[in-house]
Amino acid sequence: MNTNDIIIRPEREEDYRKVEELVRDAFWNVYRPGCAEHWLIHVLRDDPCFVRELDVVMERDGELIGQNVFARTVILADDGREVPVLTMGPICVRPDFQGKGYGKMLLDRSLAMAAEAGYGAVLIEGNIAFYGKSGFDLSSRFGIRYHDMPEDSDQSFFLCRELRLGYLDGITGVYMTPEAYFVKDEDVEEFDRSFPVREKLVLPGQLS
Ligand SMILES: CC(C)(COP(=O)(O)OP(=O)(O)OC[C@H]1O[C@@H](n2cnc3c(N)ncnc32)[C@H](O)[C@@H]1OP(=O)(O)O)[C@@H](O)C(=O)NCCC(=O)NCCS
Repeated sequence: MNTNDIIIRPEREEDYRKVEELVRDAFWNVYRPGCAEHWLIHVLRDDPCFVRELDVVMERDGELIGQNVFARTVILADDGREVPVLTMGPICVRPDFQGKGYGKMLLDRSLAMAAEAGYGAVLIEGNIAFYGKSGFDLSSRFGIRYHDMPEDSDQSFFLCRELRLGYLDGITGVYMTPEAYFVKDEDVEEFDRSFPVREKLVLPGQLS
């Protein structure tokens, strides 16, 4: 990877459709037959939880090859406080550029931007094999639980990284996924009809 060819910059309105195509290509059949993330990013941009200043795309030789977004949410702390935190994603890299270090570069740059903007912590659903390399740990290690799940359930998908060291010291509680992330299947289907037809496949490793 030649990092000199890479630009990470704010997403612009004229990128929106291209970014949605990129997100669809990257997520298609990965976590479920088809995907919902292109619709998710479409609605997230207009939601109050969306963090516009952290909405970035990655370009290589003038072509879009990656994107990442963040949203504001809270931890409902066991002592009654509401602790502001971020969640992140969808994040993706164009399929033909995956596995070459671009995702880690995009992730690390976005996290640095979020830290510079003053945010305290990021909590996400993801694979520790990727996110662990960028400083994420299991949220359970911070005493943070995923909403609406039994306490003894496997929450190893639920990860956390402090952006300010000690931000979560003394805090235990329940993380809330922002409402905007709960998209309806029928809305996804309708939106997806505006893209080229693509086959939905049931594949090993999908979540549902
Ligand atoms: C996940 C994604 C953003 C990672 O980007 P990438 O450019 O492929 O990742 P990188 O090449 O920068 O990988 C960095 C490290 O994480 C590891 N890694 C990346 N994706 C991984 C995965 N899905 N599972 C396990 N490890 C992974 C790599 O092996 C690499 O390790 P190394 O430094 O020891 O070689 C990209 O693969 C993608 O867009 N996937 C489809 C959409 C998706 O799943 N998004 C994330 C949703 S949580």
